[in-house]
Amino acid sequence: MLLKGKVVLVTGGARGLGRADALALAEAGADVVIADILDAEKTVSDVRSIGRKSLAIKMDVTNMGEVKEGVEKIKKGFWLHRCPRKQCSDFGSSRPII
Ligand SMILES: NC(=O)c1ccc[n+]([C@@H]2O[C@H](COP(=O)([O-])OP(=O)(O)OC[C@H]3O[C@@H](n4cnc5c(N)ncnc54)[C@H](O)[C@@H]3O)[C@@H](O)[C@H]2O)c1
Repeated sequence: MLLKGKVVLVTGGARGLGRADALALAEAGADVVIADILDAEKTVSDVRSIGRKSLAIKMDVTNMGEVKEGVEKIKKGFWLHRCPRKQCSDFGSSRPII
């Protein structure tokens, strides 16, 4: 559980290598946000089956506005409402791992 308590953002995680990365990160203990232009609910469902929190965000990584909006959604929306207080407070101080 190397990544327990960490939140990672995987871009292009709806399928292919990004999806494989998302599942591997979840196996290593991370909660995983999937950002993609495609529907990523299958990856989200599989991450949750591993026992980690997960969220899909529609995001085109070539669009800076969508990237900023997505990051704000993670910080203000999902994690603050659904994660335990300690993990929420840890989120702001977490360092990127990928
Ligand atoms: N599959 C391989 O063997 C392999 C080998 C070497 C390099 N690569 C490179 O790695 C990358 C991923 O490969 P893959 O096989 O997983 O591809 P893939 O097409 O299966 O998956 C790419 C994912 O990225 C998403 N995506 C594409 N553009 C996006 C955007 N602007 N914003 C957000 N999400 C976006 C797609 O919707 C998709 O879910 C590609 O650049 C590929 O060229 C792949």
